[in-house]
Amino acid sequence: MEMILKERQRLNEEQNFWKEEVVYQIYPKSFYDSNGDGIGDIKGITRKLDYLEELGVTMLWICPIFTSPMVDNGYDIADYKGIQAEFGTMEDLTELIEAAKARGIKLILDLVVNHSSDEHAWFKAALADSGSSYRDYYIFKSGEAGNPPNNWRSIFGGSVWEPVPNEDNMYYFHTFDKKQPDLNWENPALRQEIYEMINWWLEKGIAGFRIDSITFVKKDQDYGNAEVDGSDGLGSVKHKTRNRPGIEKFLAELNRETFQKYECVSVGEAPGVPYDQYDQYIGENGYFNMIFDFHYADIDVENGSEWFRRTNWQPQDLKKLLFKSQEAVQASGWGANFLENHDQPRSLSKYITDERYQNEIGAKALGTLFFFLRGTPFIYQGQEIGMKNFQRKTIEDFNDVSSIDNYHRSLLEGFSEEEALNFVNQRSRDNNRTPFQWDSSTNAGFSDSNKSWLKLTGDQVEVNADDQIGCPNSVFSYYKQMIQLRNHSSYRDTLIYGQFAPLNTTDAVIGYERSGDETLQVFVNLSNQEQKIESSGELLLNNYSELKEQDGARVLQAYQAVVIRKGGNHD
Ligand code: GLC
Ligand code: CA
Repeated sequence: MEMILKERQRLNEEQNFWKEEVVYQIYPKSFYDSNGDGIGDIKGITRKLDYLEELGVTMLWICPIFTSPMVDNGYDIADYKGIQAEFGTMEDLTELIEAAKARGIKLILDLVVNHSSDEHAWFKAALADSGSSYRDYYIFKSGEAGNPPNNWRSIFGGSVWEPVPNEDNMYYFHTFDKKQPDLNWENPALRQEIYEMINWWLEKGIAGFRIDSITFVKKDQDYGNAEVDGSDGLGSVKHKTRNRPGIEKFLAELNRETFQKYECVSVGEAPGVPYDQYDQYIGENGYFNMIFDFHYADIDVENGSEWFRRTNWQPQDLKKLLFKSQEAVQASGWGANFLENHDQPRSLSKYITDERYQNEIGAKALGTLFFFLRGTPFIYQGQEIGMKNFQRKTIEDFNDVSSIDNYHRSLLEGFSEEEALNFVNQRSRDNNRTPFQWDSSTNAGFSDSNKSWLKLTGDQVEVNADDQIGCPNSVFSYYKQMIQLRNHSSYRDTLIYGQFAPLNTTDAVIGYERSGDETLQVFVNLSNQEQKIESSGELLLNNYSELKEQDGARVLQAYQAVVIRKGGNHD
């Protein structure tokens, strides 16, 4: 009894609203177009709140909706306090915040402060007058003997240095596209300006932020050359600007000056942080409430920004990475779990290697795999109906800047056009950016018109929300059930706050348990072969209609996933 009381007490201390959320990520351009211009918008999100409420999600993360030339679909911001006209107005946003709130749904926005757009007023002022105080809001440097200041390669390809027009031998710095100049975090005035802007938004009643590319804000101040790591003669900027010493000062200050003052959530996009630094990032006094871990998301490639370096991964590799991630996060704090986002391909196409199961079986298996991990689950739009990648036939059909860069870099590395196109098709960020498939009509119900800013996948007759909503066996209904089980069943405390532990299984099965008041076990067969599991107890969730037994043991069929309540340890 005392044990249980202690456990309850521990739980109370550890409880935070953001641990209990189920987050749904919206890529506004592709969610729903309310005015027929072929571009999704804020009013479109408001119109679809019924759908989101029906699904059962409790928080929305909306990708950037701020004023932007849209070179990187809004990750290039020209005015942090303005709304991009094609998405709507500030009134539309206020209306969305209110309407969502009325349904118990919170809203977080995307905070992009490693860089701005080159069309931001600060950057324009910096260019117009080299003596302007805004000059130091960005990073300007003189070239070396007619060359850029160093050999760093930007994440989207080519040098990080762009010549400044009308100034001899002068360059500005960009980690991503040349239309995304980096902000100079070394400048305290710039940092204050950012904090003021963040607090302004938090005062408006949003629940927090997802913080973009935040591990890039500290650059090695020597700006020395990086080791060359490609046929372009350049070295990745990551070696010199990602999670570099000195960043701790910026991130601790950011947290202190903004998030800590509010009852809000901060979710860091923090690639490049080794596990032995997770304490600093998500520990008790960490910079963020949670961060995304990309170690397993990039399993199909050696490195997330070079898609031509593909791996031949096996289920046991994924298992190892996933367990390592869960254990590291558990030791330090809390994680943000995801299968997909707007920078990743569709999970069905990536993780289900036997194409015959890239259907509702595979989608439910993957859902089960990630949804019950310890941490807050993030569902990316369309994942809950099992949307898939879309094969494009020529590079001209791609919109995403990094797809075009990766295509050209693949050619440079000596791959054929066909191979290059294949790499891009597998990894392109456009895969996840195709319009949401609401119904089976020509434009998938994405818009009243026949317009769409990006080509649809074309498989909306097989995969669409309309058909799935009332259908008990659909992927959508399965996601509803998962949310129900995690957030509203008697297993809630266990599934949200329970400890994570790996289970012993055959190579192709990923098995883990969550233990609190109860012990729940999750098993997912990531192969097309039957697999025996060692487990007894009540079946709570199953993506097949039965669970076979053979010689007294339970057997998972191809890509079968189950959640089981382990019997016998309850008092
Ligand atoms: C993040 C975003 C990505 C964007 C990049 C630059 O990784 O998720 O979409 O291109 O940062 O802002
Ligand atoms: Ca529109």
